[in-house]
Amino acid sequence: MHSTDVELAADRDIVLSGMRPTGALHLGHYHGALKNWARLQHDHPCYFFVADWHALTTHYETPEVVANHTLDTVIDWLAAGVDPARATLFVQSHVLEHAELFLLLGMGTPLAWLERVPTYKDQIANLKDKDLLTYGFLGYPLLQAADILIYQARWVPVGADQVPHIEMSREIARRFNALYGKDPRIEAQAELAAAKLLPEQRAELHALRRAADQDGEVDKRERAHEIIRGSKLSRAEKDALRARLEGGRRVILREPEALLTPESKLPGLDGRKMSKSYANSIAIREEKAIVEHKVRRMPTDPARVKRTDAGDPDRCPVWQFHLAYTDEACHAWVREGCTTAGIGCLECKQPVIDAVLREQQPMLERAQPYIDNPSLVRDILDAGRDKASAAARETMRAVRDAMGLRFKS
Ligand code: TRP
Ligand code: SF4
Repeated sequence: MHSTDVELAADRDIVLSGMRPTGALHLGHYHGALKNWARLQHDHPCYFFVADWHALTTHYETPEVVANHTLDTVIDWLAAGVDPARATLFVQSHVLEHAELFLLLGMGTPLAWLERVPTYKDQIANLKDKDLLTYGFLGYPLLQAADILIYQARWVPVGADQVPHIEMSREIARRFNALYGKDPRIEAQAELAAAKLLPEQRAELHALRRAADQDGEVDKRERAHEIIRGSKLSRAEKDALRARLEGGRRVILREPEALLTPESKLPGLDGRKMSKSYANSIAIREEKAIVEHKVRRMPTDPARVKRTDAGDPDRCPVWQFHLAYTDEACHAWVREGCTTAGIGCLECKQPVIDAVLREQQPMLERAQPYIDNPSLVRDILDAGRDKASAAARETMRAVRDAMGLRFKS
């Protein structure tokens, strides 16, 4: 990456997210994460990667599971409409710089930060059949921080369970900048840079900085960063202004923000959250006959034992599928038919089956060329790796510089 691209990296709002390759993705992933990714790729530079190293933290005894699902995970993304012409798709383990940043960040990260991450103790308790008292599993959120910080990402679309990880990434970036971003030239450089701003920009920036520094209105700092981002200054000039804003520390690693993905409205077939481990999911690329079979077998309102018993849609997981998949006319038909025993449950399920199949049709079509020719996927991942590597190398150069890790002969 050349410095002009880096300028873009700091100024543009990069979106980054990762997914662990541990099995076929299902409609919960589609309605939760992937639809959102496909939307974001139109408005932002996006990096989406297969977090295979992360998967190994829980699957270290079965690395083949991870390896076998990497390609399929990407095919599921492509099926869902993630577009390699817009987004950069790659595999975490193809960009070794993630590991280097992980290692360097590990030097100064307090153990307590890792131990207090809520997912840490939860997962150890939930996955009792696995020994997760490992160094790698404790380091999970730190590796995630490295994934994010190495691309200077601004937005990280994740579910609510991941928000503490993003928070920790922010703390880690802040700590890194505080430790290694000191530079006595900043004040003078920032003065010169500010002199080049439009007078009204200069005045606003000054006021915002005062409000943030003297009156503790820290949210003003974000607006100040926006002004800097939007200005016509050079990269070095912007960096100096940013550094002054952050208490005289250079911003070597950008603090990311969680972009909370709205919960998928679609529950699993049994009404609980859709999850592979509950065996209540429909895969993104599920065969037609299996979709039909799974929906026909869905539990319904337990009060409807016989066809002639009236039911209550609010006690039935099929109704949740109607809400997600069918229109209001159909909803009215279900409510009326269910509560008067006018329709049978199989009849009620048919429009859901039709709608799911209709939704999946374009996904199957998009996936087919990649299934027929997996080397197309490899090409996408190679191109993604090249692009991601260039960005990661650029950040690592700045990180090593800041830490004084330069080879001097
Ligand atoms: N921890 C994430 C999950 O389980 C996956 C992940 C790894 C990730 N690295 C990331 C997500 C970086 C966002 C950004 O879903
Ligand atoms: Fe559920 Fe439909 Fe049967 Fe009513 S008719 S119990 S909503 S499947």
